[in-house]
Amino acid sequence: MFTEDTLSGKTILITGGGSGLGLAMAKGFARSGANIAICGRTEEKLLKAVDEIKSERDGAIARYYITDVRDHESVKIMVSKIVDDFGSMEGLVNNAAGNFLSASEDLTPGGFKAIVDIVLHGSFNCTHAFGNYLIDNQKEGSILNIVTTYAESTGCAFVLPSACSKAGVLAMTRSLAFEWAEYGIRVNAIAPGPFPTKGAWSRLVPDKMIEKLFIKKIPMKRYGKHEELANLATFLMSDLVPYITGESVVIDGGERLQAGQFNFINDLMSRKKLKAAFKAMKPK
Ligand code: HXC
Repeated sequence: MFTEDTLSGKTILITGGGSGLGLAMAKGFARSGANIAICGRTEEKLLKAVDEIKSERDGAIARYYITDVRDHESVKIMVSKIVDDFGSMEGLVNNAAGNFLSASEDLTPGGFKAIVDIVLHGSFNCTHAFGNYLIDNQKEGSILNIVTTYAESTGCAFVLPSACSKAGVLAMTRSLAFEWAEYGIRVNAIAPGPFPTKGAWSRLVPDKMIEKLFIKKIPMKRYGKHEELANLATFLMSDLVPYITGESVVIDGGERLQAGQFNFINDLMSRKKLKAAFKAMKPK
């Protein structure tokens, strides 16, 4: 579906691109021809990631920037460095996130703030700096926000700061999609379901038993593959879909659909037994 030209001529910054899903997207973009900028807090991780990204395609260009997205001034400096280094910047993926499990009554204000600062303020800081660069230079560009399935309507127990922050990022996606459409800036989101990464799993999946229950809730009975997310992100960042803006695309193997009133029946018995039970109920 994608070629080495799909994203050629585009420089894309992926925040938190040194590992996990951010790195998977950075590699996917590199395979499709983009120049890659990644940022994060840990140089060792970023250095290794840049090597991996460069090895995805002959001639791929990738650079890293040690930047904490929570700091507006540092983010502004990073965006102008990227423009100096690459000549221009066409895309931003707000991927950097923080999360942990906690009963909400046990949260400290500092714990709540830590997540809101990374997820909501971090996404705002990067979007604001990149948006201003585009507007000042009368350039078009694309912003992709990585949210979650619980951002849209349900919220989520035990991850309150993340649920509040991601809902905010989703609101930012739709608000700016409208406000900045006249500048030619697209703003979209992806809401991934469970895609295992070391960072997320170590904080969100306490043990093997919970992991088993987790997978049971997914109608497809498997986790997402990193490449599947990278493909969707490539599609949304590309010029294949310039008319899509303000959209949030869910990629979760159907996990979000659990609320369907009779869906639970599926887990009670085998499909064969279910069919027999349904047949027995059918009026003769
Ligand atoms: C309760 C916690 C905590 C925990 C930290 N805190 N971890 N509270 N339970 N497990 C509290 C601390 O006590 C402190 O509160 C405050 O949070 C700040 O902690 P620090 O360690 O000083 O903060 P910092 O070094 O800035 O680290 C931020 C962090 C860290 C979010 C806590 O885990 C981090 O950097 N995470 C980044 C990577 C990450 O989380 N990846 C997972 C993303 S997964 P006080 O009161 O002392 O100030 C994701 C997927 C969502 O988002 C979708 C899932 C399906």
